Amino acid sequence: MADAHPHGSGPLGERGRHKLCVAPMMDWTDRHARAFLRGFGPDIVLYTEMVTAAALLHGDRGRLLAFDPCEHPLALQLGGSDPDELARAAELGAAAGYDEINLNVGCPSDRVQSGRFGACLMREPDRVAACVAAMRSAVSLPVTVKCRLGVDEQDSTEHLNAFIDEVAAQGCSLFIVHARKAILGGLSPKQNRDIPPLQYARVHALARRRPDLEIVINGGLCTLADAKRELAHVEGVMLGREAYGNPAILGILDTALLRPGHTAVSAGEALTRYRPYMEARLAEGVPLHAMTRHLLGLFQGLPGARRFRRTLSEQGCRSHAGIEVLDAAVAAVDLPQAHAA
Ligand SMILES: Cc1cc2nc3c(=O)[nH]c(=O)nc-3n(C[C@H](O)[C@H](O)[C@H](O)COP(=O)(O)O)c2cc1C
Repeated sequence: MADAHPHGSGPLGERGRHKLCVAPMMDWTDRHARAFLRGFGPDIVLYTEMVTAAALLHGDRGRLLAFDPCEHPLALQLGGSDPDELARAAELGAAAGYDEINLNVGCPSDRVQSGRFGACLMREPDRVAACVAAMRSAVSLPVTVKCRLGVDEQDSTEHLNAFIDEVAAQGCSLFIVHARKAILGGLSPKQNRDIPPLQYARVHALARRRPDLEIVINGGLCTLADAKRELAHVEGVMLGREAYGNPAILGILDTALLRPGHTAVSAGEALTRYRPYMEARLAEGVPLHAMTRHLLGLFQGLPGARRFRRTLSEQGCRSHAGIEVLDAAVAAVDLPQAHAA
C-alpha cells in the first residue's frame, strides 16, 4: 500500500509520536471520517473503529481493512481474545499497511463481553499478555493496548498495576488509558462513557510509576487547556467525542502541540482538503451521505451552521447526490475570512 510515513515524522514505534490521537469509535471513525480528520494535521495519530479478529479472518477483509494513504499514521484496532486469531489478524493488518496494531481492552458492550473481549479482559491479564506476545511475534509493528482503569469491583490500583506490568512484560510499551472504570453489569456502552467518574490522577500515577512506558490518556478531554494540563503528566492525549463533534479542535491542538508556528487548520480548510477525496470516492460509487455524515459538527457556532447541517442531511441522502450538495451546504455558512476555502 502507500508510503507508510509520508510526513517524515518517524514510525509510530518511536517514542513521542502519540502526543495527539483520535480515539477509535465504532461507526464514527470509519475511513471517510479519518480521511477528513487527517486534514487537520499530518501527525495526528488516527485509530480505526474496532475490527474483530474473527471478522477479519472470516469476513470481507478487503472492505474491513481498506483505507486511503492520506490516513497515515494509522493504527488498526483489533478486538479479540484468542492469541492465534489475533496474531493472524495483526499479520493481515501489517500486510495492508497499517502503522500500529492496537488491542481493545476497554469496550464494555454486551456483544463484546459475550465474545470475551473488550473491557472484561481487564480481568484476565494473562490472556491479554498472551495475545500481545502472539501479535508481537507475528508482526514487526508496534502492538499497543487501549484499556480502562478497571472493571466493576476490580478497579484497585494494585489490579491496574498488575495488569499493566504483565502486559508490558510481553513488550507492549504504549498504553492508552481511558481514565474511568467500566461497569459491566447494568450500564450501556454509552453510559459507560459518562457515568463512572473520570480519575485522571490514577493515570498520572501510572505514568509516574512506569516512566519506561508511554501512557496516553483518554476520556473527557475537550480543550487545549485540557490537553496541556494532561501533557504535564502523560505522553499523549486521545480525544474521541470532541474530535468527532467539534473537529476544528484538532486544528487548534495540532498547531499548539505538534506544529508550533503553523496556523491552525480551520474547518473550511479541512473541508477543502477533503473535497478531492470525496470526489474520488463518489466516482467509485460511494454515496455522498457516507462521507458528509461526518461533517455535521463542522461549523458549530457560525451563522448558517444549522442550514449547513440541514442541507447535508436532507439533500445529501438523495440517491446520486453529488459534490454540488456539499457546495450548496457550505454556501449557507457565513464563513469568516480565515475559514473561507
Ligand atoms: C460512538 C463511539 C464508539 C466507540 N467505539 C470504540 C471502539 O470501537 N473501540 C474503543 O476502544 N473505544 C471505543 N469508544 C470509546 C472511545 O474510544 C473513548 O475511549 C471514549 O469515547 C472516551 O473518550 P472521549 O471522552 O474523548 O470521547 C467509542 C466511543 C464512542 C462515542
